Amino acid sequence: MTSSSTESTGLPADWAEEVRRLARERDAVILAHNYQLPEIQDIADHVGDSLALSRAAAAVDASTIVFCGVHFMAETAKILSYDKTVLIPDERAGCSLADTITADQLRAWKAEHPGAVVVSYVNTTAAVKAETDVCCTSSNAVDVVASIDPDTEILFCPDQFLGAHVQRITGRTNMHIWMGECHVHAGINGADLRAKVEADPEAELFIHPECGCATSALYLAGAGVVPAERTKILSTSGMVTAAQQTTASKVLVATETGMLHQLRKANPLVIFEPVNRAAVCKYMKMITPEKLLRSLRTMTDEVTVPADVAERARRSVERMIAIGTPSRTAE
Ligand code: 13P
Ligand code: SF4
Repeated sequence: MTSSSTESTGLPADWAEEVRRLARERDAVILAHNYQLPEIQDIADHVGDSLALSRAAAAVDASTIVFCGVHFMAETAKILSYDKTVLIPDERAGCSLADTITADQLRAWKAEHPGAVVVSYVNTTAAVKAETDVCCTSSNAVDVVASIDPDTEILFCPDQFLGAHVQRITGRTNMHIWMGECHVHAGINGADLRAKVEADPEAELFIHPECGCATSALYLAGAGVVPAERTKILSTSGMVTAAQQTTASKVLVATETGMLHQLRKANPLVIFEPVNRAAVCKYMKMITPEKLLRSLRTMTDEVTVPADVAERARRSVERMIAIGTPSRTAE
């Protein structure tokens, strides 16, 4: 290790300047999801949720996009900016939720429900998006489903908890839901939530709709255990907006813990506490400063999507981008 390296990793002390210098040299823009390591969020040009980053990817002028997030997100950037080079600092950064449905499984499901409209959460592979009519994210899933003719059947995949949330809000009965889940969010359960709420009865609650506890949160609110007006089911960027606006002194946060960095920046006066400290997405955390540096130096790992798949997937993603309220990116 040289004297200009940090103690444990061999990362140069000036790594952040080096990333910025290489990004300029490569004509690259750096996008980071809200669950990334704090140092990755802080160096990115845009930080946001899936929808905001899809929008940013579609709008950038730079010839290269370095996507600090998981693989399906980088694929979405490639689908939307096909002529650009899209890099992910570690192509092994997958998603347990996206892995719960394949294109073959979706085709078989569609064959059982001819005429149904397929709504896929953006946490899916490009091949699944190519079989989809319209994609959605956690911030516009309700708007997407509400935009579909009420008499038309819907196949909603892959997240069962988001599906249940959308069904509850829209009151839709002709909606079939795929039983997929994210291992991180499914692990934030009703018992964790109840214990936290009982210990902190005055706190506000921010809950991502992928959580296993989202159903419990609404049940507990209905039962008066948690106050309905202080229980908010939000996408990751919805949480940032709510953090800026809250008057509570403490907020309990039910999502991946990387989210706490943006929330604390958005409102340093509030205490943001995770409902489950172990809710860490190992895939999101595969993107490190070392790998970001390597990615910019060597222009790897490049994300590719076959042209025919990208073309079909683009239609469903562009429909998603056109629907729903804009979500925020931090710059
Ligand atoms: P958002 O769309 O809210 O950013 O969530 C993406 C995700 O992967 C949640 O686990
Ligand atoms: Fe996928 Fe869950 Fe990680 Fe989000 S938190 S990227 S849904 S594994």
